[in-house]
Amino acid sequence: MYLKTLHLHNFRNYLEQTVEFEQKKTILLGNNAQGKSNILEAVELLATLKSHRTNRDRDLILEGKTTGQILGIVERTYGMSDLSIILRSPGRRTLTLNQENLRRHLEFLGSLNAVEFSSLDLDLVRGSPDARRSWLDTLLVQLEPVYAHILHQYYQVLRQRNAFLKELRKKAAEEETSTNLLTQMPQLHLWDQQLVEIGSRVTRRRARVIERLTPLAQNWHKSISGGQEILEIIYLPNIDCDSDQPTQVQQAFFDKIEQRRIAEQQLGTTVVGPHRDDVEFTINQTPAKSYGSQGQQRTLVLALKLAELKLIEEVIGEPPLLLLDDVLAELDPNRQNQLLEVIQGRFQTLITTTYLDSFDSQWLQSSQILKVESGKIHPY
Ligand SMILES: Nc1ncnc2c1ncn2[C@@H]1O[C@H](COP(=O)(O)OP(=O)(O)OP(=O)(O)O)[C@@H](O)[C@H]1O
Ligand SMILES: [Mg+2]
Repeated sequence: MYLKTLHLHNFRNYLEQTVEFEQKKTILLGNNAQGKSNILEAVELLATLKSHRTNRDRDLILEGKTTGQILGIVERTYGMSDLSIILRSPGRRTLTLNQENLRRHLEFLGSLNAVEFSSLDLDLVRGSPDARRSWLDTLLVQLEPVYAHILHQYYQVLRQRNAFLKELRKKAAEEETSTNLLTQMPQLHLWDQQLVEIGSRVTRRRARVIERLTPLAQNWHKSISGGQEILEIIYLPNIDCDSDQPTQVQQAFFDKIEQRRIAEQQLGTTVVGPHRDDVEFTINQTPAKSYGSQGQQRTLVLALKLAELKLIEEVIGEPPLLLLDDVLAELDPNRQNQLLEVIQGRFQTLITTTYLDSFDSQWLQSSQILKVESGKIHPY
């Protein structure tokens, strides 16, 4: 797939800007704080409807304005599509595909696919479980857009169940007795049922995507590390279950809720479910989080990103875009070459950088270079 045109209106520090991508490789060159990453963020939004930098649309809209817009024209094997997101503050987004208003996010997702790789991605290894869950979720949304809907439902049920548990705890404290909690059980069981049904779908999909991604990432990791290192990716679901059978996953979920019933009532919050999942990476059987060197952690993240590219290409049948935010300069020549070799003409790639020195001349010759200066883009 190929993003031909991007148009921004009141987006971040861009008032009105059209970018025509004329080559498969585009280098966005500019000093700090000029708007390079903002361009990648706009593409990320078209692909996932999410930004990894903010959850608030207000941050995305040019300061002082109340609406902003991102438009993209995407060329795919089956034809061209026109994507648009209108952002409002306050207010809801309007999504359109080929000028048609879409009511559901689901219909928009999947029109454009992208893998982003930035220096922040080291958080995947070093950061909290949250970073790893959101990485998995972003990948899953691109592979099967219906997952966005499942995840949304799960968090809705989770919020409602939490509110109910909190209310129960308050009542118990007021009456200094827990006997009447039993009378609330039928209602709690209804919440359990919903949490388990939707949560199991999340758990099973996460398990499956890791299973598919692992051999790809292992191959890359082996090749980048010169055959020295063996990577393992281990899904650590909060619901412990070896089986992929829906009924067995659900049973394991129910069992764990029973076990943690008292803890949940005391804490007034849901402690069982995929919102507490994690993923562990090990290199030669040692956890990369605590023992990996910086270099090993970088190799690991690069291997993961390359695996994501491949997996999306396999599933979607077209190569996704690759968004490289400031990472090239941080990789040593060996890792840089591995990355550049993989990209060579196959994946449309947008790269941000503050200087061109780290690019080899062949790469520069085959790239479109755009200069980014305080929210304006010019040919270099
Ligand atoms: N909602 C907004 N309205 C106006 N300006 C904004 C808004 N959000 C961010 N900016 C501005 O955008 C600039 C940051 O853009 P961006 O993150 O793309 O920089 P960059 O070129 O990638 O820089 P670096 O090299 O440091 O990564 C800052 O000047 C910031 O003030
Ligand atoms: Mg930046």
